[in-house]
Amino acid sequence: QHNEFKSMIEAHALAANFYSHLLLNTVEGEEALEYLEKRGFTRESIEKYGIGWSLNDNEALSGLLKRKSFDMRDMERAGLCIMKDDGTGYFDRFRARIMFPLHDDNGNVVAFSGRILTGSKQEAKYLNSPETPIFEKSHILYNFHNARLNVRKTGKVILFEGFMDTISADRAGVTNSVAVMGTSLSDTHLLKLKRIAKDLIICCDGDDAGWEAAKRFADMATQKGLDVKIALLPGKMDPDDYITEHGGDAFREKVIGNPHSFMSFIMAYAKRSKNLSYENDVLQYIHEVLEELAKRSSPVERDLYFRQLSTVTGVSIEAINQQFIKMA
Ligand code: GTP
Ligand code: MN
Ligand code: MN
Ligand code: MN
Ligand code: MN
Repeated sequence: QHNEFKSMIEAHALAANFYSHLLLNTVEGEEALEYLEKRGFTRESIEKYGIGWSLNDNEALSGLLKRKSFDMRDMERAGLCIMKDDGTGYFDRFRARIMFPLHDDNGNVVAFSGRILTGSKQEAKYLNSPETPIFEKSHILYNFHNARLNVRKTGKVILFEGFMDTISADRAGVTNSVAVMGTSLSDTHLLKLKRIAKDLIICCDGDDAGWEAAKRFADMATQKGLDVKIALLPGKMDPDDYITEHGGDAFREKVIGNPHSFMSFIMAYAKRSKNLSYENDVLQYIHEVLEELAKRSSPVERDLYFRQLSTVTGVSIEAINQQFIKMA
């Protein structure tokens, strides 16, 4: 009788060491290492985050796991290997990818995300471990185990869309950040954060998907009772792009240090897709902002945003107020 849980975790620790060794100490890892260096990764951050490289070989890890006497059925259930179609053996899930270990709250490696080196359109940019007994996606936030202490200390947590952003932010001196894996944020994630922080700063990518994600995350987090602010990036940059281009000081001061309130974000969000020289767009803009104002907000907040709406659209405060009363 063996402990499947324990063996899955041991295998992930072994795999993480193996991948890290391949990146840092072998000829096969050189191209990936250069790629990371070009993107601004320091040796320190590569080591701290346990980043590695998986060989372009079907059985590099499977072979190692077999030699170490791991039960290969467990390894398949752990997401590290995949059974061949003819059932005669196993091959590696991750091949020729930069490997980012994902940790549970105790710091155990429980999964991986692998990034392709090239901009190849053939394959997905990131390949993730599947959901397994040790990797529940709705529970795990990237960097949670590292950031926890600083989050508690500051009462504040920064949420990014991608783990690349967390690693860059760390380099920029922002040590209280976590990341979701793309666009899925769960209530479980939020409750985890709420147990250790009051304030949440959402900092999503500046592209359309990022704005949509920020809106959705902000709604969810507000509902869970977190104090939500939203940090916005210029253009279509993501946090990692911004730090590379403008540096860590600018990121800390101008982006993270100057986040929007929920309503101020809504004003920007509603305006984004509109041209306020068109009457229809003006009406729609006012409607969307008032709808949000109706959901939350104190009289003072209403007054403040009625004024701003009026300034931006040229519609009188009185008319905006009438409209608001009609909607309620
Ligand atoms: P870089 O392009 O390397 O800078 O990564 P990024 O963090 O900017 O990635 P992006 O903004 O495109 O996506 C954010 C997050 O979404 C990533 O960290 C991944 O977790 C996830 N993601 C992005 N592309 C894919 C994909 O092709 N497959 C999967 N499964 N997840 C993805
Ligand atoms: Mn078993
Ligand atoms: Mn993105
Ligand atoms: Mn991004
Ligand atoms: Mn990026």
